[in-house]
Amino acid sequence: MIVVRGLLKKYVLNASGPNDSNLSELETIAKSDSAAVMMKSCTIKPREGNQEPRYKRLPLGAIQSMGLPNEGYEKYVEYSSILKKYNKPVIASVAGFNADEYVALVKAFQNSDADLVEVNLSCPNIEGKSQVAYDFEQMEKILGRIENLGNKPIGLKLPAYLDLAHHKKAAEIILKHNVSFITCINSIGNTLVIDYEAAGPVIKTNGGLGGLCGDYIKPIALANVRVFYELLQDKIFIFGVGGIKSGTDAYEFLLAGADAVQVATVFEKEGPNCFERINNELNEILKRKNLTIESARGKLKNSKSLLIKQEK
Ligand code: DHB
Repeated sequence: MIVVRGLLKKYVLNASGPNDSNLSELETIAKSDSAAVMMKSCTIKPREGNQEPRYKRLPLGAIQSMGLPNEGYEKYVEYSSILKKYNKPVIASVAGFNADEYVALVKAFQNSDADLVEVNLSCPNIEGKSQVAYDFEQMEKILGRIENLGNKPIGLKLPAYLDLAHHKKAAEIILKHNVSFITCINSIGNTLVIDYEAAGPVIKTNGGLGGLCGDYIKPIALANVRVFYELLQDKIFIFGVGGIKSGTDAYEFLLAGADAVQVATVFEKEGPNCFERINNELNEILKRKNLTIESARGKLKNSKSLLIKQEK
């Protein structure tokens, strides 16, 4: 926790996802006001990803089924070294198709110039593969094998949980293992948006199912941050993600308990100026309220613990 807090000098960074899969895109992020350079979730082998159309902007966000297009982990190990010169943390994101692959990927980045490793346990867009973090037995098995492969802090990219029993189980596993941060939430998988004129889905793979992003998922993301903030009791750094497009959104995530926020959909839409804009808007709110990031974090008012109540 302390290590991760010490690394990040600002509150807003890009989330793994859009415009972070090649060196030129990563250098654009490095030169922006993003607090870090988060790289696209990578796999052992390069992947083309799913058939187009696979990303569709919507009035309040987007739906996507990219299918992990990436250049293969070896390239991102190389990019980690090249990106060093920008003097901000580089975060690798890894997505394996089985436990052995997660081990190989984490090991590779433990021996790289990346500063943090985000282990993506929640990619929803691979046909025939379930999201690891919905299978607690599998999640624990993988964690047991990757937690001590090096000294760089590792974290977990989590899916949206919608039942407090699931948050509790996930938190119990996280606290048992050597996890420094969590990122919640990933886009919400297996949602369907229909183009009624065409009488078909707006994206084509997986029967039109894809990950929902943006404003649509913000309340779910906020709830996940809040519940994990309570359950993890400040022992684990929390990145909030899901529908953050303004300083007010960032401030809401701060109140819920996020240590930093990642942005994807707004970055895809607006480009790299979004980091500075959101940061400035957040700072104005904090100034007006005479608060700091530290003094506001987790300070959601009138919110008696849901978790204690549920136990009765
Ligand atoms: C992809 C989507 C995700 O939500 C994710 O976490 C990783 C990869 C994708 O489809 O490329």
